[in-house]
Amino acid sequence: MKVLVIGSGGREHAIVRAISRSKKVSKIYCAPGNAGISELAEIVDIKVMEFDKLAAFAKDNDIDLTVVGPDDPLVGGIVDVFEEKGLRVFGPRKNAAILEGSKAFSKDLMKKYNIPTAAYETFDDPDKALEYLKTADMPIVLKADGLALGKGVLICNNLKEAEDGVKEIMLDKKFGSAGNKLVIEEFMTGREVSVLSFVDGKTVKTMSSAQDHKRAKDNDEGLNTGGMGNFSPSPFYTKEVEEFCEEKIFKPTVEAMAKEGREFKGVIFFGLMLTPKGPKVLEYNARFGDPEAQVVLTRLKSDIIDIFEACIDGTLDKTPVEFGDDAAVCVILASDGYPLEYKKGFEIKGLEAFKGKEDYFCFHAGSKFNEEGKIVTNGGRVLGVTATASTLKEARKKAYEATEWVTFENKYMRTDIGKAIDEA
Ligand code: AMP
Ligand code: GLY
Repeated sequence: MKVLVIGSGGREHAIVRAISRSKKVSKIYCAPGNAGISELAEIVDIKVMEFDKLAAFAKDNDIDLTVVGPDDPLVGGIVDVFEEKGLRVFGPRKNAAILEGSKAFSKDLMKKYNIPTAAYETFDDPDKALEYLKTADMPIVLKADGLALGKGVLICNNLKEAEDGVKEIMLDKKFGSAGNKLVIEEFMTGREVSVLSFVDGKTVKTMSSAQDHKRAKDNDEGLNTGGMGNFSPSPFYTKEVEEFCEEKIFKPTVEAMAKEGREFKGVIFFGLMLTPKGPKVLEYNARFGDPEAQVVLTRLKSDIIDIFEACIDGTLDKTPVEFGDDAAVCVILASDGYPLEYKKGFEIKGLEAFKGKEDYFCFHAGSKFNEEGKIVTNGGRVLGVTATASTLKEARKKAYEATEWVTFENKYMRTDIGKAIDEA
């Protein structure tokens, strides 16, 4: 079969790689893809929000299945457009992708169905939000309602920071229309775990857990980013925690969406905080995480195409979703300056070192071919250097070794990815 993957990041590289391992697949396309993805898939020069062009490409090229990576097209309704044209597509429809697209929606859903999460209030009037803050406990968390490239969450330590935050989000519109509504949320403490899951509308099957590192700098300092590295599985996601989450969070969420007439098919990414009072939902995403996909999908043993098809057909209960008992660590090589300003266009050298190695992966996030045909940096997050091994410690050692194989000007990475492994 022929498969089209939509997106251009490390996540999509990991998805394309997993698909390339399926015996059912004869050809993979990726739009718009990147330099690394071009080794496994034919690159198609169409952007992720050009729904009609993408659907026309799928029709003209007899694509059997399209897989959508990023949040923007999902929240924008790409799946509905493909379905209206009779095309098979993996991902939630617009009315289900709202689980990620509106934090106010997801918080109200959790409240209505008793799914554990932080206490909150929603505001569309900045004056009321400012009034509310006067009596609130600090620290407090402000969340722009809509999509904001993972940057729409502010943790405020005191009233002044919180007031400034309300102004930035609701009045200065720092995140555009994402800030028309604001969620003000109780600050929680604990370890964070990312649990991705496949969902077919009624059945939910989780993938192996992961732990992200969202801040730009070592020791979780600096600005929030899309993720600077991660590891899988999380040693803190114990059997006991898993059982609690299955019963109180995962199943209830999928059932709640169905009851609301918003049947969810695709990937739900549960961002969890293991608080002293038990696991609680930090956020939902309606897609694979990036870089969570890099560490999780390298450990997937089942055929991902079978799983995608089962999610679309509603047969996930009969389809195996199995992971190896190994471990994986991913360290992001970024352009210095990310997530703010950075330079790009620098040649990436040393990529050939990964060729022919089964347990080392170099997933490309921001890379492209320049006019001379050389691979150059083309984004904030450039590469996701990933290694697998039988233990987390060994995988971490290997991943950091492999970060030295590649060089480019302005290369930046965190040096403490997986530090929590030593605390387990
Ligand atoms: P989100 O995009 O909602 O996952 O938020 C980004 C990051 O902000 C999370 O990964 C947490 O580290 C932090 N965060 C979000 N909500 C809370 C909360 N209620 N309490 C403490 N930290 C939070
Ligand atoms: N790494 C977090 C995310 O994909 O949202």
